[in-house]
Formats: sequence, structure tokens, C-alpha cells
Amino acid sequence: MPSFTVDVAQRKPESAVASDREGARYRSRVRAVLGSIDPALDLVDACRRAKGMFPTEVAQWLPTEGRTGTSLEPHADDSYRCIPELHPLDGEWYFTEESSAILADLARRAPATRSLLLGMPTVAARLTGQDALLVDRSPFLHTRFPELSVPVERSEVSAVRVRPGFSVVLLDPPWYIDDFFAWLEIGMRAAEAGGRLIFPLFQELTRAEAAREREEILGLVESVGRVELVAGALDYDIPLFERRALSAGGVLLNKPWRRADLVVVHVTRSLPAVRAVPRVDAPHESWSTFVVGTQVVKVRDAAAAVDERLIDSVPGLANHLYDSVSRRESRRSLIDIWTSRNRVARIFNPQRVYAALNHLAGGEHDLPERARCLLAREGEDVEELLNMLEMPR
Ligand SMILES: C[S@@+](CC[C@H](N)C(=O)[O-])C[C@H]1O[C@@H](n2cnc3c(N)ncnc32)[C@H](O)[C@@H]1O
Repeated sequence: MPSFTVDVAQRKPESAVASDREGARYRSRVRAVLGSIDPALDLVDACRRAKGMFPTEVAQWLPTEGRTGTSLEPHADDSYRCIPELHPLDGEWYFTEESSAILADLARRAPATRSLLLGMPTVAARLTGQDALLVDRSPFLHTRFPELSVPVERSEVSAVRVRPGFSVVLLDPPWYIDDFFAWLEIGMRAAEAGGRLIFPLFQELTRAEAAREREEILGLVESVGRVELVAGALDYDIPLFERRALSAGGVLLNKPWRRADLVVVHVTRSLPAVRAVPRVDAPHESWSTFVVGTQVVKVRDAAAAVDERLIDSVPGLANHLYDSVSRRESRRSLIDIWTSRNRVARIFNPQRVYAALNHLAGGEHDLPERARCLLAREGEDVEELLNMLEMPR
């Protein structure tokens, strides 16, 4: 059995957390990178050079007064493909038009192309024909991309059984090491010798452990071929939920800031197909999804009713607006309901919340009417939920 498989299976949950030494190294690297940024640059360009640091952190470290690159209009540049809206729990960061075009070109350029795309809908939407396959669990892809013509397997990546023999495999997992390992293992088995494995890689200051995680990822893919890395080659649009998180932290950006390195692995050795890798760091979480107007609303499955109230605030948040998009944030465990506009709350009475969301679910048409009707039926108990959902009425 190849040694990386053993590595994956034996990774310890502790390795997901930065050690003190790693934290100190991270802070010193932050100082060095931010110290090298030209003070004349506008805030977005400073963020683009900050190697993945979240803009609210960049803004805390760098003097931002007088910098351009910010906008007072938070919705000025909302991504065009996002109805229903994107959600952080699905890791839905879409590439800019330019970056998805670059990746689609790379997919087309391979000789005798048979492409496998794991979680790359914006790229898949640019490809045609039966020689590509998109694996993605989202139920919304055909609504967001009516032009999508390649076959789609709607599935968890870790549950899919793909055959080997793809000349190009492109993948963009959520930016967490265990997702990367699980997706890469599947990608490395699907790519044929002589083919290419292509993916964006988060930059070294994305979080304290990011530099080490990058080394682990690059070490893993080196086991199947020659690795080429193009620094900062790919850009992501700012999804609405991230715009809201940034604005809650006092930062408004007028163009995309999030970048990734582009990794192309020239595969020389294909690997036998085996089982998917179990996740090691994330406790199992399960969320139900509702579509209310253009919003996607996720509710943590579970929990018996505590009392009659529907929802309550997560401590420290004004108007339920959450200033983070990270899966690892400590407040995350307090969140039971999370909207695609990055408003979050705790739930006290799941049954009443489910009933309210079932009543509100559906398109924009008649939504104010549905909200008024719910309010008339449930009384002021439901008011806070309606406010959190930004319901017109
Ligand atoms: C990080 S986004 C990448 C999107 C890509 N940047 C693009 O522009 O096409 C992840 C994609 O993978 C899908 N996804 C996330 N987790 C998944 C999982 N565990 N299994 C299958 N699909 C998943 C999401 O629906 C989303 O489309």
C-alpha cells in the first residue's frame, strides 16, 4: 500500500491545531509579509498580497486610513451566479470569471481529454460533452448554471466511486486539510499516468497551520508526479456571506481579494482505486437546508426544544450578523441556524423553527405575504426570526 495512504489514515486530530511554536512562527511571518507591503497600496491590493490573511485581520495590522479599495456599497459587486445564494457551510467560494476560464482552458488543453471535476461547478459550466464528469453535492447547480451540460454526479465526494483513467482531474475542496486529503486521494486514483491533477492551494497565512498543511499537501501529491506551482494565479469572487462577514468586521472591499496558488501535478504514476478516506478532525454535523426567497438557510439537525422561544442571539453579535466564515471558529458550536447572508442564531425550539421555515420556503414571489401570514399566526414570537431572515413584510 502506498505510504501516503497510511499517513492519511494515521493523521492525528491534534495536528489540525497550531502548536505554540507554530503560532509564534505564524505571527512573525505575518509581520514580515505585512511589513513588505507598499503602504501606498489600496486595501484590496494589500489583502491580495497578504498570503491569505482574512481582510479584517489585515485591516487591524495595517493602517487603513486614507486607503482606497474600499466601497461603501456592500452589494455593488455581488457575484452573478448566485441564486440561490452561496453558503459558507457548503464551502461555496466561486472563482472569478477569469480564473474559471483559466482552469477550463487547462482542462481542454490535455490531449485526449477526459476530465473529472470535483466541486468545480464554475469550470464545469464552461465545458461541453460527455468526456467530463462533475461531482458536487449541491442541489442548486442547474439553477445557478442553466448552461451546465456535462454530466453531474450529485454526491459527497468522499462517497463517490470514480474509475481511474481521467486525463485531467480538477478539484477544489473546502480549505481544510482533511477535506484536501480525502479529495486528493480520490483525485490521485482517478488521474491516469501521463495526465494532470490540478487544484488551487490556500496560501501560507490563511491560518496558523496553513504553512505546514501546504507542505503536507504538496508532499502528498509529489508521490504521484512532478509538481508545478504558480503563486497567486487564481482569484475568487467575494460571496455575499463573506461580504457580510467583512462588513461586520468593518471592512468593505470593492473587488476580489481571495487568491490561491495554482498547483499542476504532471502525473507519472497512477494509483489503484481503494476506499475513501474517513475524515479525522470534524465531528459529524448535519444541517437541513431551506430556500427562502433567494436565501439558503441551514438549520442544525437535532436538539429537543428547550423552551417556547424560537431563537436567541449568539453572544457578542449585533443583529445576528456573524463576522467570521471559518469552520474552526470557537463560536461555531453555538450556531444552530445560519443564513447565506451570514446571520446566525441559537435555536431554542427546533420544531417551531422548522415549521416557520417550511411556511416561508419558496421563491421570492409572495414571500412578503407568507411572512405576514406567519406573523399573524405565530405572533411576536416569530418576529426575531423574521428580522434575522431580513423578511420583507
Ligand atoms: C470550494 S467550492 C469550489 C467551487 C469552485 N471554486 C468553483 O468556482 O467552481 C466547493 C464546491 O464543492 C461542493 N462541495 C463542498 N463540499 C462537498 C462535499 N463534501 N462533497 C461534494 N461536493 C462538495 C460545493 O457544492 C461547491 O460547489
